Amino acid sequence: MKILVTGANGQLGTEMRNLLEKECPGNALYTDIDTLDLTDVKAVEHYVLKNDITHIVNCAAYTAVDKAEEDKAQCAAINVDAVKNLAIAADAVGAKIIHISTDYVFDGTAHRPYKESDKVNPISQYGTTKRTGETSLIALAPDSIIIRTGWLYSPYGKNFVKTMLRLGTEKKQLKVVSDQIGTPTYAKDLAIAIYKILCSHQWVEGIYHFSDEGACSWYDFTKAIHRIAGITTCDVQPIPTEDYPTAASRPAYAILDKSRIKATYGVSIPHWEESLVECIDRIKMEE
Ligand SMILES: NC(=O)c1ccc[n+]([C@@H]2O[C@H](COP(=O)([O-])OP(=O)(O)OC[C@H]3O[C@@H](n4cnc5c(N)ncnc54)[C@H](OP(=O)(O)O)[C@@H]3O)[C@@H](O)[C@H]2O)c1
Repeated sequence: MKILVTGANGQLGTEMRNLLEKECPGNALYTDIDTLDLTDVKAVEHYVLKNDITHIVNCAAYTAVDKAEEDKAQCAAINVDAVKNLAIAADAVGAKIIHISTDYVFDGTAHRPYKESDKVNPISQYGTTKRTGETSLIALAPDSIIIRTGWLYSPYGKNFVKTMLRLGTEKKQLKVVSDQIGTPTYAKDLAIAIYKILCSHQWVEGIYHFSDEGACSWYDFTKAIHRIAGITTCDVQPIPTEDYPTAASRPAYAILDKSRIKATYGVSIPHWEESLVECIDRIKMEE
């Protein structure tokens, strides 16, 4: 098995690298935009062929949800065209793809956790391009696995946990949206699930949902971050979405039903608060 991890400097990509270097050193190659620009189809084909890649884990994406509303072409280039390029390259060598998508393919009007078969209806440019990435991949490489996730955080890059840790020490008061519900997902937990699929003797194509267990609002998430980190000097107040206008709309409800990935691959999933404790410990150790 020769695995290519793309977007390897991002949150999930870095957790994939940590895990693969520990569990199966020498079996994976790691690229990011500086080493392999996925929007360059010839470069992608050449890389995959030259390195005898058997599996691609695509962690690369355009993830700036608000910026995407303006930066439409660049967002589509990475979330759609790059995915097509990977599919073309994979087809040329018979490699399999695990691609990561998002809960933002849904409009958030559901009243129970979203199943893979539920109707999609993205309400942002980011969600729209991620959905087109899914359909393009299914058309070009139907044996691919697509994992939709949400609210990713890690000790790496920019994310909500790191922002709230910083703001919690800088500010006396914070107002945080309390009417958008989802599940914070520790990128390391997703990396472990992907590793389990790679090591499994069965490859069952199609879409899967993965997040950590439980559900909360951004406000609840912030309170937990501060409690776990021991931040007591910041008063966090709940506000409705309408009081925090952003360029992109976000689903009010983004909880994913994880039955399929559990039943097919036997992944065990921690509760989000349990994983948050571990992540904050790691962030503090690196300070
Ligand atoms: N973050 C979330 O809350 C969230 C929620 C749901 C789903 N997801 C999905 O989960 C996956 C991983 O997200 P993440 O948070 O780990 O993303 P991330 O930290 O933003 O990492 C994405 C990586 O892709 C790289 N990249 C961008 N354009 C590229 C190109 N043309 N060629 C090669 N690499 C390129 C980025 O490089 P630069 O930094 O230099 O641009 C970055 O290192 C993505 O598919 C994302 O859509 C994320």
